[in-house]
Amino acid sequence: MGRVAYVNGSYVPHSEAAVHIEDRGYQFADGVYEVTAVYQGKLIDEQGHAARLDRSLRELQIAWPVKRRVFGLLMREVIRRNRLTNGSIYVQVTRGVAPRNHNFPKGVPSSLVMTTTAKDLDTLLGGEPTQVITVPDIRWGRPDIKSIALLPNCLAKQKAGEAGCYEAWQVDKDGCVTEGTLSNAWIVNAAGELVTRNADENAILNGITRQAVMELAQTASLRVVERPFSVDEALAAREAFLTSTTSFVKPVVRIDGKPVGDGAPGSVTRQLGVLIGERLAAAVR
Ligand code: PDD
Repeated sequence: MGRVAYVNGSYVPHSEAAVHIEDRGYQFADGVYEVTAVYQGKLIDEQGHAARLDRSLRELQIAWPVKRRVFGLLMREVIRRNRLTNGSIYVQVTRGVAPRNHNFPKGVPSSLVMTTTAKDLDTLLGGEPTQVITVPDIRWGRPDIKSIALLPNCLAKQKAGEAGCYEAWQVDKDGCVTEGTLSNAWIVNAAGELVTRNADENAILNGITRQAVMELAQTASLRVVERPFSVDEALAAREAFLTSTTSFVKPVVRIDGKPVGDGAPGSVTRQLGVLIGERLAAAVR
């Protein structure tokens, strides 16, 4: 059996999985998503991802497509049918299928799609050094909602790829970094503080990995300061790194071609990379 997708109540071969052309996700990007890591067959940070999905759905007034308990069972079944050991599960919920009309349809069930991707998470945990470019943040005003409307993110990520970089750090009108296109941005300043953008102004997605790193930093007696930081401050920092479900803790060694610190992964970044690996191992023990 090859890859299997879950689409609105059915398990179908991945190559044949499809949604209706009038799905509002397709027509209006009217939906939300989550990417959850799967390590040794287990969901990592399941509750955090489900809580964030719940928040995204509530913010957009989209109903849960199934009961929360059933949702967890479906995720496990999709993992099982795909014999997924290491990788991730993608979950998308849209407002459903209805004739094209900007107003929300009434009495229409939301759509639910799930797919898995196999990935060698142990290799990703290695914390391969990466480079980033900076781009203006041209997204809508609610990046705190994990919306599937990712065109600005795709444009910026494509630009990064064309520049030979992994990620693009998006910069607001005040010259401060908000976040990457699929990851949160961090620096370690001269005082040894971890600085990352505050999540309370809806300028970033409150990453589940970001929250895990904040907890790990606390246990390691590292100080975390949640505030905006400028590109100049990042360039003057000792270290920089990014975090996400699919990147864990990745050192950022160059920004717009200029080295951060000595241009090599820093000791705090490496320490956090080890800690996040230990956290993952502990979650499946
Ligand atoms: N992206 N910021 C943005 C804009 C993101 O899209 C993501 C996740 C993050 C990190 O969040 P977390 O630690 O919960 O993965 C921050 C996923 C992985 C994606 O779009 O593929």
